[in-house]
Amino acid sequence: MTAQRVAVWWLDVSTVAETAWPALAARLGEDERARAQRFHFDHDRLCYVAAHALGRGALAAWTGIASHAWAFAADAFGKPEVAAPAWRGRLRLNLSHTRGVAAAALCEEHDVGVDVEWLERRPVEDGLAQRFFAPAECAQLAALPPAARHHAFLDFWTLKEAYVKAIGKGLAQPLDSFAFTLDPLAIAFDDRLSDDPSRWLFRRLRPTPSHVLALALRHPDPASVAVETRAMSAEELLAYP
Ligand SMILES: CC(C)(COP(=O)(O)OP(=O)(O)OC[C@H]1O[C@@H](n2cnc3c(N)ncnc32)[C@H](O)[C@@H]1OP(=O)(O)O)[C@@H](O)C(=O)NCCC(=O)NCCS
Repeated sequence: MTAQRVAVWWLDVSTVAETAWPALAARLGEDERARAQRFHFDHDRLCYVAAHALGRGALAAWTGIASHAWAFAADAFGKPEVAAPAWRGRLRLNLSHTRGVAAAALCEEHDVGVDVEWLERRPVEDGLAQRFFAPAECAQLAALPPAARHHAFLDFWTLKEAYVKAIGKGLAQPLDSFAFTLDPLAIAFDDRLSDDPSRWLFRRLRPTPSHVLALALRHPDPASVAVETRAMSAEELLAYP
């Protein structure tokens, strides 16, 4: 029955005590720790460490296998996948980090993607939606009062990123080949994508007042899936082995 669950965890980086960071970093693999060292800004490094510790914690909670035991490998499109140790099903993990929040989505077997964005990032430059979004999405944005557009833009953005990350093709997937509506939350595909809207589950979440998060899960029966959302603290995360 585990394939009917998806776990979405996030960590508000501002809540992490200074003293917890070494223990969180110790959960990471050697290559992840080396990558963390290469970030220029401390806030980027901390969000990276938080996301990777969070993903490992989610795997530990799901399986009972220790956080540090997990290894990852990128697929042909560069999407990191769980490579080891062996588990009874194929574990699927996706991570996202932005200023202040790290997020992880975990399930078994099914394509999953997560994206989190910071609402206080600089207002989106004019024309970005026109360049990247589908015409139907641009029309929805244009119909909103100007004060509501920044938030709605980031809602679309996170949903589009979560979908692209779930299918794993990165930017090889034209972002205007699929279009979301926010209310009701739904996706439509154009002729370039032979995908089926009825096989997708999407969620919009609000991990903090300053962040939006989107989840995308491909599943044969989306209505049957239990979405388990959890705001984690560093202490809770470190309580897993
Ligand atoms: C890499 C990409 C998959 C997501 O990048 P992002 O949104 O900047 O970053 P996020 O923090 O949400 O996600 C990064 C994580 O996704 C995972 N990831 C990397 N490549 C991936 C891929 N091809 N598919 C799915 N997940 C991927 C990794 O775990 C990565 O974390 P890490 O760098 O700490 O190892 C890619 O889609 C991208 O560069 N997108 C941004 C470009 C853009 O213009 N988007 C417009 C949206 S409308």
